Amino acid sequence: MTVAALVPAAGSGVRMAAGAPKALLLLVGEPLLVHAVRALRAVPRVTQIVVAVPPGREFETEELLRPYDVQVVPGGAERSDSVRAALAAVHDDVDLVLVHDAARALAPAAVADRVIDALELGADAVVPVLPVADTVKRVHQDEVTETLDRADLRAVQTPQGFRREVLEQAHAQGRDATDDAGLVELLGRTVRTVPGAEEAFKVTRPFDLRVAEAVLSEGQRG
Ligand code: CTP
Ligand code: MG
Repeated sequence: MTVAALVPAAGSGVRMAAGAPKALLLLVGEPLLVHAVRALRAVPRVTQIVVAVPPGREFETEELLRPYDVQVVPGGAERSDSVRAALAAVHDDVDLVLVHDAARALAPAAVADRVIDALELGADAVVPVLPVADTVKRVHQDEVTETLDRADLRAVQTPQGFRREVLEQAHAQGRDATDDAGLVELLGRTVRTVPGAEEAFKVTRPFDLRVAEAVLSEGQRG
């Protein structure tokens, strides 16, 4: 089966507050986006990569990613708009689609492999997950209203994987969800899980960038 990977990288990075789009911030000398794309290129079954970038940044991103043979499209106002823009550029012969946040720059290729394996075994939609370390509570203003059972909770990462037509239907609904799998759940389809990886954490705030720098320099030393 043919696999394409979509990389939403068009966010502005409000929580990072770096004054530049987060995916283009440098992490040990290279933009987050380059780290993320390089890891996807290390997945032999991925035959096409489409990156959605902030409108106006297409040309410089094409230059940056020239060695990795990707297509660059302008993203949209919301993450799901960016995913839809990238999905529209997927080749006709593609059966399976991964969606991977540029912000998860250190996600190992092995996670993508596990997701593709599950799709090839017949799943409609697959998400990599990790157990939740913290206790998670629902709050209203400053009062706790409920403690969730941590044993049933999972933190969801990317790359998430889908049968192409399932992802297309999910995005055609015109509904909102915080991830692509959430849109598939709204279709009433089953989403399966595979083990994620701690390295696939999302670089969201300045502290995450420091963690990512530390992880990478540790890898380079040893
Ligand atoms: N993204 C995108 N288009 C958007 C918003 C987000 O392609 N309109 C991408 C981001 O570039 C990122 C991924 O979706 O790779 C996950 O989003 P997030 O971590 O929230 O990044 P930002 O939206 O840039 O950050 P913030 O929410 O802090 O502004
Ligand atoms: Mg965001």
